[in-house]
Amino acid sequence: MKFAVSGKGGVGKTTLSANLAFQMRDKGYQVFAIDADPDLSLGTVLGLSEEEVEKLQPIVEMRDLIVERTQGDGAMYVLNPEVDDVWEDYSIDVNGIRFLKMGAVKKRGCYCLENTFLNSLINSIVIKTKEAVLLDMGAGIEHLTRGTSRGVDCLIIVVEPSVVSTDTAKVTKMLAEEIGIKNIYYVGNKIRSEKEIEFLKTRVPAENILGCISYSDYLLDLAMGVEEEDSEAKAKFDGEIAAILKSIEDRHGDA
Ligand SMILES: Nc1ncnc2c1ncn2[C@@H]1O[C@H](COP(=O)(O)OP(=O)(O)O)[C@@H](O)[C@H]1O
Ligand SMILES: [Mg+2]
Repeated sequence: MKFAVSGKGGVGKTTLSANLAFQMRDKGYQVFAIDADPDLSLGTVLGLSEEEVEKLQPIVEMRDLIVERTQGDGAMYVLNPEVDDVWEDYSIDVNGIRFLKMGAVKKRGCYCLENTFLNSLINSIVIKTKEAVLLDMGAGIEHLTRGTSRGVDCLIIVVEPSVVSTDTAKVTKMLAEEIGIKNIYYVGNKIRSEKEIEFLKTRVPAENILGCISYSDYLLDLAMGVEEEDSEAKAKFDGEIAAILKSIEDRHGDA
């Protein structure tokens, strides 16, 4: 399965993406992870050092390669450039996960070439059983086009129990539907009470909520760099991620 994760800034997209990637890997999946968020933190959360993340060449900076493969830097370019070798050459292995970063879109304007390239990259992976492509996106889904939606078959929108976050989710859902993404799911994050889950169910389609993640002491400790692991808090968090993965598998066969 190929899925993209979106949602408002700071809502927990990278946390969810990385931990789904780890659990999929542990279940025997080959996971391809793409960081398409300008914040660029998926690599770090997966286990790369800051320097390693810096060193990795982002897709948006592979201008020459992009121009060569899309055959043009003008108005005309091929829509399905040859990219089969890119994963080989440009991605790196991070703790058993193939990782590639899209890079920050620094200037305004059209990134048609870059996005075409990304789309082709996603589409080029012919998913075999037990393989998954995971795209950690920013709040916007501007990298996704109709082309990608042929590749990305599932969008997970992470939401916090707030009006703002669920309003963003509504806009994202509309955009995703416009480009033809068929399966749109939700994950509630930073949940502290049953009341918050009930709130979410009134704000997003309840049947499409894959699961919820509690406000987590384990993640708070991680963020503060606390060395001693709260194993109970970790087990709870891992269990919630496992339930979300199970819910994905139930809906999509073996992902
Ligand atoms: N369930 C949670 N409980 C506590 N902290 C969380 C939770 N989910 C995410 N966080 C923290 O919130 C911050 C933002 O999360 P992140 O995954 O980077 O968000 P995003 O990728 O959506 O910007 C991080 O410091 C992360 O550890
Ligand atoms: Mg992020």
